[in-house]
Amino acid sequence: MPTTRFHPSRRGATPSVAEQMRSRARKVEAKGEKVIYLQVGQPSTGAPAGAIDAIHRASDTSILGYTSAAGIPELRARISKNYQDQYGVTVDPERIVITFGASGAMILALIGCFDAGARIALPQPFYYGYRHAMGTLGVECVPFDTSMESHFQPTVDDIEQIEGEIDGLIFASPGNPTGSMMPREQMQELSDYCQRKEIRLISDEIYHGIVFDDEVPQQTATAFSDEIIVVNSFSKYYSMAGWRLGWMVLPEYLVEPISNLAHNLYLCPPAPSQYGALHAMDCREELDGHVDRYKKNRDILLAKMPEMGFDRYSAPHGAFYLYCHVKHLHEDSLQFAIEMLEGCGVLAAPGSDFSVRHGHHYIRFSYAGSTADVEEAVARMTKWRNR
Ligand SMILES: Cc1ncc(COP(=O)(O)O)c(C=O)c1O
Repeated sequence: MPTTRFHPSRRGATPSVAEQMRSRARKVEAKGEKVIYLQVGQPSTGAPAGAIDAIHRASDTSILGYTSAAGIPELRARISKNYQDQYGVTVDPERIVITFGASGAMILALIGCFDAGARIALPQPFYYGYRHAMGTLGVECVPFDTSMESHFQPTVDDIEQIEGEIDGLIFASPGNPTGSMMPREQMQELSDYCQRKEIRLISDEIYHGIVFDDEVPQQTATAFSDEIIVVNSFSKYYSMAGWRLGWMVLPEYLVEPISNLAHNLYLCPPAPSQYGALHAMDCREELDGHVDRYKKNRDILLAKMPEMGFDRYSAPHGAFYLYCHVKHLHEDSLQFAIEMLEGCGVLAAPGSDFSVRHGHHYIRFSYAGSTADVEEAVARMTKWRNR
């Protein structure tokens, strides 16, 4: 650490377990072994063909300069149509703001809706990025427990256990790392409770579209109240993670302040991605093909994992993750993940990133990759567990 005034600010520098694990995997690869990455949080496919064509056409006919901070009107209108087509919900295009991924949407929501020091509840297990972002942005993250019996989705009872007042609450359905979904009635209850208590509810719907069964139908929280902020993205179902594009649905009175913030922080979301995304929304056949593969991969894991001792989880309804309780296999899931990587060349994500309390007893497997890789990983893990 330098002894001058020049040093990294206290806002950044959150260590990532994921990065530590990747560098261990590279060492295994350096010895000539192929590692199967079951820790990834993104599709293994590229953008749909229609989006790629659209981007080429747009670059032929436009300079692709700055757009309006809230995004191009055509995309806002296309997303609005999607709410009508997919959920039967009317959302005024003026309430939709295009952002720099769901990450950008969440940053805008946190800065735009809460003052420094506000307390935002985060059900654990959670997507770790949000916890770290809160620390950086000066709001307090208040993690609270959910239960496997409620599929790790927060109930009003869970929220009532939180000590002290909270100003906001973030939840995701389907969730990361669990892939489980919140039933409609539970979401309605949560929404009513938060309205009554004046808790700002933020619904992360980034895994919408990647839903496997009718057991828990996909539900957008915007159907319950215009006050709920919805964040979503082209990174997962649309298979466009690196295009860095997402959106938020806002109450009308927040559109202008949030757009001003976006303008001041980064001017506008990326123009090429916006033109591509406009057409990605018409590529459902191709994209649904990826969902069929995720489902097939999930079914392989659900059939084979219990035989290896990975038998404690809430079966995922969507997304591409399986979050397993492994305390009976090892006291520390980070160490367990390292031993598995070194023992059979399969990398999974230790749970410590996802929960401050119980993470060290869990491990997350991603099945976003090819079915061949999932099958190979299962074969390797079976051999390793039965050694
Ligand atoms: C639940 C959840 N929300 C948000 C994000 C961030 O996504 P984006 O690529 O849209 O910024 C992720 C990424 O993995 C996620 O899992």
